[in-house]
Amino acid sequence: MPVPLMDIRGQYAHLLDEVKRAACDVIDSGRFILGPNVRALEEEVAEAVGAHHAVAVANGTDAIVLALEALMVGPGDEVICPSHTFYATAEAVARAGAQPVFADIDPATFNVDPAAVEAAVTDRTRAIVAVHLCGQPADLAALREIADRHGLALVEDAAQAYGARYDGRPVGTFGDAATLSFFPSKNLPAMGDGGMVLARDGDVADRVRMLRFHGSRDKRVFEHVGMNSRLDEMQAAIMRVLLPHVQGWNEARRAAAARYADLGLGELVELPREARCTTHVYHLFVVRAAERDVLASRLRDAGIGAVPYYSTPLHLQPVFRSLGYRPGDLPDTERAARESLALPMFPTLDEASQREVVAAVRAAAPAAA
Ligand SMILES: Cc1ncc(COP(=O)(O)O)c(C=O)c1O
Repeated sequence: MPVPLMDIRGQYAHLLDEVKRAACDVIDSGRFILGPNVRALEEEVAEAVGAHHAVAVANGTDAIVLALEALMVGPGDEVICPSHTFYATAEAVARAGAQPVFADIDPATFNVDPAAVEAAVTDRTRAIVAVHLCGQPADLAALREIADRHGLALVEDAAQAYGARYDGRPVGTFGDAATLSFFPSKNLPAMGDGGMVLARDGDVADRVRMLRFHGSRDKRVFEHVGMNSRLDEMQAAIMRVLLPHVQGWNEARRAAAARYADLGLGELVELPREARCTTHVYHLFVVRAAERDVLASRLRDAGIGAVPYYSTPLHLQPVFRSLGYRPGDLPDTERAARESLALPMFPTLDEASQREVVAAVRAAAPAAA
């Protein structure tokens, strides 16, 4: 029986009538841009996370660009970020005009290592972008302390971690700003693109609000070179139906992760580890396997979703060649790139399917060939 890597529709199949009603209401209203649903979603997400301010934008990449720009980060500045993340993290830093400086990861969590961040600080550093990779919070206490000591802005890229907690508090409330993606596979999904900036400070939120709207408050007076980056009403209305269910979906993801351990997957591959103080929400269930590529291709042949995340680290991508990084510069990142493999994970993943996955890994493990 094939088991997909993710099943986006399964989690909300029972909500589709409600979703369609919400979408039809928007069509009937004729209000498509920055209307009541966007405003309400901003308030509902801010309340659920405990953020002071929330500004909805077109996607999670723009959210990072706009957060950095609103924090006055730009040309001539360095921004420290991980290399083991989706490209958008560093792409957004460069798009904001700053230079990404890549820091190595803690091999236990795949998240940026605070000691490596500290070592990368120079007198041009203006910000740290910490990614909560796969749904596991980065070491926020240590990163906040480093940011405060050096006078840097801390941005949480929480694209993969809506609902995750650090020290019992939702991620998104530790940084000067935090960014969310509502890409359809994310823990809080839209049915299209979407994103959001959470901010601690009203002035930062106000600048994001202007920057997403051509640098204007009213489309007559233009105060900044902004962009057009708005979440649309249709997505906001759909997401307001889904939002109340995300906590339950995250609990189901956590239960599925625990079940993989109970079923013995840890005897075959190295399981993800939850760091102290963190509540992981398993956007992705990423294991380590020494012969990852062999395992991945055998699993795929067996009909099991198995995808390497992320097999070429950002510091070695062609786009960043001019930064001068070489293979070996970030050894833990490069090992993670060779060994990481995402296995099926979604809220409706059931025990029978997980038994299939574990059996397939057992049969496919190179040592057992
Ligand atoms: C860590 C991370 N940052 C940023 C993004 C960008 O989000 P979006 O696809 O909504 O632009 C993603 C999306 O995959 C992501 O995983």
